[in-house]
Amino acid sequence: MSFTYEALPMRVVFGPGKLSALPAETARLGVRRALVLSTPGQRDLAERAASLLGDLAAGVFTGARMHVPATTVADALDRAARVDADGYVAIGGGSTVGLAKALALRSGRATLAVPTTYAGSEMTPIWGITDNARKQTGRDREVLPRTVLYDPELTVALPVQMSMTSGLNAMAHAVEALYAPDGSPVVAAMAEQGVRDLATALPRLLETPADLAARTTALQGAWLSGACLGATTMGLHHKLCHTLGGMLDLPHAETHAVVLPHVAAFNLPSAPAARHALARALGAADPARALGALADALGAPRDLRRLGVRESDLPRVAAEVLARPYSNPRPVTRTDLTALLHRAWSRQAV
Ligand SMILES: NC(=O)c1ccc[n+]([C@@H]2O[C@H](COP(=O)([O-])OP(=O)(O)OC[C@H]3O[C@@H](n4cnc5c(N)ncnc54)[C@H](O)[C@@H]3O)[C@@H](O)[C@H]2O)c1
Repeated sequence: MSFTYEALPMRVVFGPGKLSALPAETARLGVRRALVLSTPGQRDLAERAASLLGDLAAGVFTGARMHVPATTVADALDRAARVDADGYVAIGGGSTVGLAKALALRSGRATLAVPTTYAGSEMTPIWGITDNARKQTGRDREVLPRTVLYDPELTVALPVQMSMTSGLNAMAHAVEALYAPDGSPVVAAMAEQGVRDLATALPRLLETPADLAARTTALQGAWLSGACLGATTMGLHHKLCHTLGGMLDLPHAETHAVVLPHVAAFNLPSAPAARHALARALGAADPARALGALADALGAPRDLRRLGVRESDLPRVAAEVLARPYSNPRPVTRTDLTALLHRAWSRQAV
């Protein structure tokens, strides 16, 4: 066995009620005037964070949106300059954390992230900014939040269906990390536990969305899975989801939920260690089938057709995926990919 593992330099503070540590954690970063970032829908939470921060808050910017539009980045930078902010507190999902990353890239200022979904962006050095309908992406350690504060109490308000699809989105990071070319024992351990946590917690949350113990387990799984995403190179599943999302403007987490069982069924026969780890984590001999059954049990979308994809879109999606290389444990031919896309489009069993 040989591997390279590079730990990402983040401080993680985790636990119910930990939002109360926000002022101390912000001060610890040397930030004296934080601009609190959120989406319009999470304004109340952002204002709560700002009032907790007291003098450490310079203001609130609630303009975060999906895909990090360049105009939003410019507006936030302008706001930060006007209130003399010297750092950012991002409170929300991947869209808000994405804005903070773009601001860190442009300004070099420190960010503290408080995630409220299971997307995992806070654990990765991957940034994206959309300008004139083109999304530019890159990897840069400068964009990593210095501290991530996970408080499961903040996820209780996440709507049930979003909790399910966001949780499956997180699970997809862990699944692909298990067969990534740059995996390691550390990543494998995090990925297996991440899948176990999410598979245990999500059905409980479907029953009782306010179950704090299950919210805590799910957020732990999301953290571990996000850390896997940040540490490894993703394969066919993420390539397909990004292509589908980018070309057809599909919802992010739902697309992951539909595609995951199909890519797992395709890849796992060529990734025996990943298959064994997933079998243990899911308590099932056939993990790909178990992922499909879990998505069914959670009421997640199961076909691309329902997300608005037309059958006639599939060939150009396949062509785009095949046009650019990516790592994958099993070589992908046009015939394979077309068949996989049709199964995902029409909800055929894996
Ligand atoms: N760069 C990366 O490594 C990375 C990783 C994962 C996702 N992403 C990006 O993140 C985006 C998706 O993030 P997301 O799935 O977290 O969705 P999101 O951040 O777009 O949030 C969706 C909606 O849910 C609301 N919301 C979030 N948490 C809530 C809560 N606890 N209670 C009530 N409402 C809540 C938000 O305000 C928003 O309106 C995508 O654009 C994706 O590309 C990036």
